[in-house]
Amino acid sequence: MTMVDITRGRPRPSVQEVIAADVVAAPLVMRSESPAVGLGDDDISVERYFSKDWHDREVEAIWRRTWQLACRLEELPNVGDHIVYEIVHDSLIVVRTGPDEIRAYVNSCLHRGTQLRTEGGCVTKFRCPFHGFTWDLAGSLVVVPGEWDFPHLDKAKFDLPQAKVGIWAGFVFINFDPACEPLDSYLEILPRHFADFALEDRYKAIHVAKIMPCNWKLAMEAFIEAYHVPVAHGQVLAYYGDENTQYDVYPGVRHVSRMISVQGVPSPSVSHLTPETTISHMRRDVPFYGGKPIDIGPGMTARAGLAERAREKIGRSSGRDMSGVSDSEALDLIEYMLFPNMVPWGGQSLPICYRFRPHGDNPERSIMEIMFLFAKAPDGSHPEPAKITWLSEDEPWSNAREMGSAAMVADQDTDNLKRIQRGLRASKKPGVTLARYQESRIRHFHETLDAYMAREAAVGRHGAPADRNT
Ligand code: FES
Ligand SMILES: [Fe+2]
Repeated sequence: MTMVDITRGRPRPSVQEVIAADVVAAPLVMRSESPAVGLGDDDISVERYFSKDWHDREVEAIWRRTWQLACRLEELPNVGDHIVYEIVHDSLIVVRTGPDEIRAYVNSCLHRGTQLRTEGGCVTKFRCPFHGFTWDLAGSLVVVPGEWDFPHLDKAKFDLPQAKVGIWAGFVFINFDPACEPLDSYLEILPRHFADFALEDRYKAIHVAKIMPCNWKLAMEAFIEAYHVPVAHGQVLAYYGDENTQYDVYPGVRHVSRMISVQGVPSPSVSHLTPETTISHMRRDVPFYGGKPIDIGPGMTARAGLAERAREKIGRSSGRDMSGVSDSEALDLIEYMLFPNMVPWGGQSLPICYRFRPHGDNPERSIMEIMFLFAKAPDGSHPEPAKITWLSEDEPWSNAREMGSAAMVADQDTDNLKRIQRGLRASKKPGVTLARYQESRIRHFHETLDAYMAREAAVGRHGAPADRNT
């Protein structure tokens, strides 16, 4: 294979050049880049964004095979605490069953199928609301009302079926596939990259979910590239590195990619901006940097001044010493994705986590969630984790007041996504065409998606050839 440098011609300064000039140096993991190699240039088929047949195959190949974020650990502090995780038609009760044990039970009564739980809470047992079959937290059937009428039922064989559970960085993951790859290897480079970011020391302070007017993949793709930023979010050009965002796709890594957008420096597309303009626009759009004036002395950059303000603010709100936090971690958008649908941010200023999934059985609607993970106090205490604020398809993100300035950006994206979904249905072109570098994470995502789809087509749901009946 010929090695092609897909970054050739991109605007300067690069992210690495900006980070190299920082006052407080970034951790090693930030000081490298890995542009994609050998991904190809073919168009991506459009049917995957609206075809019901494609959606049905995705359910088997993706949603019943991959590790998915279910919830945060701090949502399940006590034995019996649980949430309900739903994905298309599947439903799990994710429950703490012991001080060191979390399980995921299939949310369906083994008598006649009734959902055992419709929402989270804390229970000592799961009692079906229809006839009262009851399971204890260990998943054993303990009560069968009118048991004389079930001489044919062996209670020992009526344990609640389970999905697999794994934990990383305070996130609880589930996987429906009993033969799945272990979570540790599935995560690939993610734990190493997040070693400095310590998301296990965070708690979920804000959680907003919205029904999106598009396929789940379209929604996610709009949040894993910055190529659209100059046109869709033109307000940020004075302080955000859009055109010089760094995109990393690592050799041999299937499930993880990354992008870094620097902040506190203008877009390469604008010139002759004073540092004062950069600071004032950033403070205008992101109140986090507000408060007393940010003075930049001789030789000091807007970026250094804003980084210092961020360190002060995070230090004050978390009660921790943040003086050693690098400018990059304090300011930049350091965004990873974990296949298929989780997008956790690194850094220290405002770790966000997105999750994208289909909305029920409709390939043209999805659920997008934005979680804000704030630092726990040094002793590990924290306020109650946030309950989900749900927004309907017609409600803007700005209706969730807790989103603050992030809502405006998300609303700009949502307006576009509605047009993308409709435009793709109208298109007579069979595929979408991607930029080589700036959309390389999207191409990498589809490469992995295609690999899972192909594997499913080859082995089928139960591990036997899919064409075994033909
Ligand atoms: S359906 Fe659950 S007890 Fe009958
Ligand atoms: Fe956007």
